[in-house]
Amino acid sequence: MQGRVKIALIGAGMFGGDVHLRAYADLQRAGLAPHLGRIGLDHWTRDLAPIQFELAAVAARSEKSARLARRNFKKWTGHEPRAYFGPTPWLDVLRAIPDVDVVAVATPDNLHTPVVLAALKNLSHVITEKPMCLSIHEADQIIDLARRNNLIVAVDMHKRYDPDHLRIRDDIKNRIGDPLYGVACLEEPLQVSTATFKWVEQSDPFSYVGPHWVDLIWHYYKSKPVSLTAIGQKKRLVRDGINAYDAVQVRVDFANGMSIHFHNNWITPPDFEGPVNQGHEIVGTDGKVESDQQYRGLRFWHKGGGSRTVNTHFTREVSRPDGSKAYVGYGVDSLTAGLAAVCRRKFWHEKREALAAIYPSAEDARITVAIVHAAAIVRDLNFKYLRRGKGAPVTARFGKDGITIIDPHRRPGRSKEIGHRIYDKPI
Ligand SMILES: NC(=O)c1ccc[n+]([C@@H]2O[C@H](COP(=O)([O-])OP(=O)(O)OC[C@H]3O[C@@H](n4cnc5c(N)ncnc54)[C@H](O)[C@@H]3O)[C@@H](O)[C@H]2O)c1
Repeated sequence: MQGRVKIALIGAGMFGGDVHLRAYADLQRAGLAPHLGRIGLDHWTRDLAPIQFELAAVAARSEKSARLARRNFKKWTGHEPRAYFGPTPWLDVLRAIPDVDVVAVATPDNLHTPVVLAALKNLSHVITEKPMCLSIHEADQIIDLARRNNLIVAVDMHKRYDPDHLRIRDDIKNRIGDPLYGVACLEEPLQVSTATFKWVEQSDPFSYVGPHWVDLIWHYYKSKPVSLTAIGQKKRLVRDGINAYDAVQVRVDFANGMSIHFHNNWITPPDFEGPVNQGHEIVGTDGKVESDQQYRGLRFWHKGGGSRTVNTHFTREVSRPDGSKAYVGYGVDSLTAGLAAVCRRKFWHEKREALAAIYPSAEDARITVAIVHAAAIVRDLNFKYLRRGKGAPVTARFGKDGITIIDPHRRPGRSKEIGHRIYDKPI
């Protein structure tokens, strides 16, 4: 099967300009085939090997970022994508290149939905960064449009492809018994919240990085949430004049009876040894798994550089004979999974539903978005009540009747009205 897949990358910052751009450069050089065995899709290697990929456009808010991405891509591949910039550059891309097959979305957390919906209206498939969006209502819009237009929306949930997690998924299925409780943490550098992101006040540490673990837990157990509580602190970033949460903690209770605590912050000082601190553990009736994703046994230090660790599983560079570097790791794997689904849909006309199991889908992301959406409301109410000395009693309930925020302070003395429905479809 000969064919070409045209990609447009919208958002070329820390993640889009690095991981997506590098991954698409390798695709342009060598296609999908080199990566398929890593994600259990090697039976498609011969089918997909001849398919060509082209990064047709890259877009960012500023001209400088868009041009830098274009230059880097040319340096890696010899090919120059068109560069777009401005407040809504994805509209310019879709107007100029209406036959774009895939729109890759790496804009700030609060700016995924308009790009995703515009792409789907244009009949383009989508690979989007996490969180797919911040509102369950927007998630439904995305899923409806993707279904109606028979398109793939793949979400970059790469923790599923971490080699340790592939093993853990097998362990928890077959060896540790019924899950009781767990903890998952991801702590990001202060640099991210104080310098890199201009949009911290429009997101929070749980919405930003919590989805990684929420999705992984969903992927492990496929168990829906039944309730949650959330709380956050604002002490460090306010020192820099930033009105955003330093840290957020969320406890989610699931239908299978397990309770998982998610701990996230973006205030880790630069002296910390790893790029991020992260790990999770799950206790079951017959055993436990622990996974330290930060320190995996590789540490180095030198004069003036402190002691450092790296995560070579996420991405690593491998030298090619010509001296250039191939880019592999689980950071690339979830993009590969989404693009493999796009190829099967575009060239083999396979059904969207039949492909859903091979990549992190919009339907999967809907569960994560439901949790992120409810947690943001519960967190804000608990934050407000804590400051007034009223404790942190607010929770959210999920079920067939949708999502209800339970706020005992809402109508003091009128217990029937403490519930406030924010979503009325089954979760
Ligand atoms: N999968 C992961 O592990 C991972 C890691 C980091 C970030 N992310 C996600 O990727 C997304 C981007 O994060 P980042 O770290 O690259 O942020 P960033 O702030 O470094 O980059 C944001 C990019 O979006 C662009 N942008 C902003 N407004 C825009 C607009 N109106 N139109 C077009 N482009 C616009 C900026 O120009 C910039 O290129 C976020 O959703 C984030 O959660 C994912």
